Amino acid sequence: MTISTRQTSMRTHMCGEIGTSDIGQTVTVCGWVAKRREHGDKLAFVDLRDYSGIVQCVIDNAVDVRSEYVVKITGVVRPRPEGTVNVNLSTGEVEIGECLVEVLRSAEPPPFPVDARADDVDENVRLQYRYIDIRRERMQKNLRTRAKVNSAVRTAMESQGFVEVETPMLVPSTPEGAREFLVPSRKEPGSFYALPQSPQLFKQLLMVAGIDRYYQIARCLRDEDLRADRQYEFMQLDAEMSFVNQDDVLAAISAAVIAAAESVTGVKPDPIQQITWREAMERFGVDKPDLRFGMELTELTAIFSSTEFKAFAGAESIKGIRVEGKAEEFGRNKLDALTDRAKKMGAKGLVWLKVTTDGTLESPVVKFLSANEQSQLISTLQAQAGDLLLIVADKWSMTCEVLGTLRNELGRPPVHQGPYRYVWVTEFPLFVGVDKETGQPKPGHHPFCQPHPDDLDKFSSDPMSVRSLAYDLVLNGWELGSGSIRIHEPEMQRRVFTALGISEDEANRKFGFFLKPFTYGAPPHGGFAFGLDRLVAILAGEENIREVIAFPKTQSGQDPMTNAPTRAENKQLDELGIRVLPPKV
Ligand code: AMO
Ligand code: AMP
Repeated sequence: MTISTRQTSMRTHMCGEIGTSDIGQTVTVCGWVAKRREHGDKLAFVDLRDYSGIVQCVIDNAVDVRSEYVVKITGVVRPRPEGTVNVNLSTGEVEIGECLVEVLRSAEPPPFPVDARADDVDENVRLQYRYIDIRRERMQKNLRTRAKVNSAVRTAMESQGFVEVETPMLVPSTPEGAREFLVPSRKEPGSFYALPQSPQLFKQLLMVAGIDRYYQIARCLRDEDLRADRQYEFMQLDAEMSFVNQDDVLAAISAAVIAAAESVTGVKPDPIQQITWREAMERFGVDKPDLRFGMELTELTAIFSSTEFKAFAGAESIKGIRVEGKAEEFGRNKLDALTDRAKKMGAKGLVWLKVTTDGTLESPVVKFLSANEQSQLISTLQAQAGDLLLIVADKWSMTCEVLGTLRNELGRPPVHQGPYRYVWVTEFPLFVGVDKETGQPKPGHHPFCQPHPDDLDKFSSDPMSVRSLAYDLVLNGWELGSGSIRIHEPEMQRRVFTALGISEDEANRKFGFFLKPFTYGAPPHGGFAFGLDRLVAILAGEENIREVIAFPKTQSGQDPMTNAPTRAENKQLDELGIRVLPPKV
């Protein structure tokens, strides 16, 4: 006999757990009517569904139960008659007969069939009736996957000595980059709390406070434009450690991610490889490379060092990709579209060449290339007949960006296609780009990342080449998470602020509440945070993190089920000292 941990005073068994070992037993099951089929004038078959699965019950057809009614059925388990066994159902060898049916609650007909595939139903309708959508197999599976990941992550962190500490949701504004949600203070009209973009500030203070190893499955909030991998509210596995170097942090986080993946897939991923940011850009053109496919960027600058082709002459960087076997598929229209795509990203143009069956190159620009350039191009790109070659000449960052994007667009397999390829990307630049207003460099991650110890002498001579001890974890082209070793000495912090053009006064004004605690004895420390929604989505084979969140917002930030956001009452606004201006016309 099966004994379920879910046995209660109302039921003896779970529907999906009933099997041949229960034959002859009287059982009571509770659940929703998944399907009803009439069988002659006397009997009806009811498929009863609960959390565990479905079981067939044979009932008197006079009993009024319909789709999604909630019922309690007591009956005797018996083998199904020969020829009626359903091999697709875990309970397919048995049925419950001699049924007594009690209707616990009738139900309106559902707005969409519960057994339909999720993508057959409009997403807005799914979200409006999310409580029914979650009854369906896809959402049940995804939410359970999510719970497994959370549980495995917790266990992995606890077993490494991390202590779970909760941090506040009403916090001051912090300089983390994303737009914040503000919450007005009633006691102090005109003042606002921010909702935390992450627990960054507090977890560093917990290191000053001697917690040594902190973690939290933390809710974070960012008022950003929503995308497939972005929600206003999302969850991070957030961690921080004292007296560590970068390798210690990567090892601790790797252990949690590997445990989470294994708990879902049953397969333990290999140790996660590391590449530097520079190498990621050189080979894949992006800082979150998808390692599931080749088509790597190839350096071609040397081949064209004395070229007569104007578009390539004197370029800082010339790179190409080989799109294997695609020459025929790309007619003129598609090639023009690719060129337009490249130009939209800022490239001056895109050279395409097709490798013909006799191994020569075909392209409107081939006449500008010397025989030697052509043959070196073919050998360097290892081009074969039928390949399409794409080349961009520009500044290094532009060739990387354009070809990295085209590589993804032309070659990236869908999320569900696996396999899982994790990679640590290390040594991100300390500074990226220049602030248009101040002309000063901007921080790559945030202004509290430790610079790479080998690059300290380049601070004034070549700041843009200074690397940091900041790192990302990437899975199949998705950025799973980021972290860094933090600055814990005031002298180093001053140097970074100076390079960013932040004066001591400004630093104290903006970050004083954060910097002061460091004067009371800050240990060397570092940490990391990865997006749980993203990890779960990939492990569940979903393209959009909404599919692994019980109650997400739509692309436009709304919740069709609760209608949030809604207008506030004037009385509430008065209390908060807020006046809503009429919309601008
Ligand atoms: P970062 O800002 O890179 O780092 O965020 C870490 C990870 O959080 C996830 N994430 C999101 N997931 C869903 N929706 C969003 N809007 C969203 N924004 C971020 C991503 C991302 O990689 N405090 C630092 C970490 C640290 O330095 O320790 C931080 O939050 O998976
Ligand atoms: P043009 O000389 O501008 O007519 O360009 C000739 C061809 O070279 C066109 O197909 C352009 O798209 C391409 N092209 C121009 N500039 C670049 C560049 N910087 N990198 C790659 N292709 C380019």
